[in-house]
Amino acid sequence: MSTEPIIRLKGVEKSFGPLNVLKGIDYEVGEGVSSVIMGGSGSGKSVLIKHVVGLLKPDAGEVWVSGKRVDTLDGDELDMIRLSIGYLFQSGALFDSMSVFENMEFFLERHSEMTRPEREDRIMEYLTWVGLPEKRHHRPAELSGGQRKRIALARALVLGPDIMLYDEPTTGLDPVSVRSVSELIVRLREELGVTSVAITHDLLCAEIIADDVHFLYEGAILTSGSLEQVRGTDHPALKEFFGSTDSDP
Ligand SMILES: Nc1ncnc2c1ncn2[C@@H]1O[C@H](COP(=O)(O)OP(=O)(O)OP(=O)(O)O)[C@@H](O)[C@H]1O
Ligand SMILES: [Mg+2]
Repeated sequence: MSTEPIIRLKGVEKSFGPLNVLKGIDYEVGEGVSSVIMGGSGSGKSVLIKHVVGLLKPDAGEVWVSGKRVDTLDGDELDMIRLSIGYLFQSGALFDSMSVFENMEFFLERHSEMTRPEREDRIMEYLTWVGLPEKRHHRPAELSGGQRKRIALARALVLGPDIMLYDEPTTGLDPVSVRSVSELIVRLREELGVTSVAITHDLLCAEIIADDVHFLYEGAILTSGSLEQVRGTDHPALKEFFGSTDSDP
């Protein structure tokens, strides 16, 4: 584990009108670490990770990625940082009218200098990586939910990001698909050294991928540690989140 964090939020505050969503977030992710963010619905998890890619700007505080201060960047410099970050949206956000191949090529055409054969090699490499090379000509509607997530993952990876952000990567999947998507996330860290931040409420996914877990509550990180440490924290919000499995009869 590296000592210099690749992602660092310092005292980040964010409000929407009267709603104070983030009230002072201090959060760090070391290079190559797989960090999981948990918390109730509406607690600000998606808002938090949108600050990492500069989709939202904080009202106060600082956001640092790879040694650059993201919250004060714009234009080309912000674009450069964004291209080093893959973002797996909760919905997958594939283009329905395009085939799997075209969905992936779209990004390479815009953001790389690759030739057509180079693009084809790269796309097939990542489709093979997620185990779906035979689906290259299919449209998203012709795929299962788990396959769509894996294709969205391949697309987020095609530009070779250093950092991956996952917003609920396994929601709506059956346990077999949860396992396969989670194991891909682990392989990304192990084989490519990708740093990741994943929002999930899926315990199986968290068990498979988390190096550390951070629990967001009332606009701040209530507790951090291993999944077991966070689960074992004696706080009503955590008890409610993790259910009544270990509560008294
Ligand atoms: N662009 C926006 N404008 C106004 N309010 C917003 C905006 N984005 C988020 N919010 C509000 O901020 C709060 C936190 O939203 P966020 O999407 O981060 O929740 P979440 O923790 O990701 O929840 P979930 O688990 O349901 O996805 C919500 O009350 C939401 O309505
Ligand atoms: Mg969310």
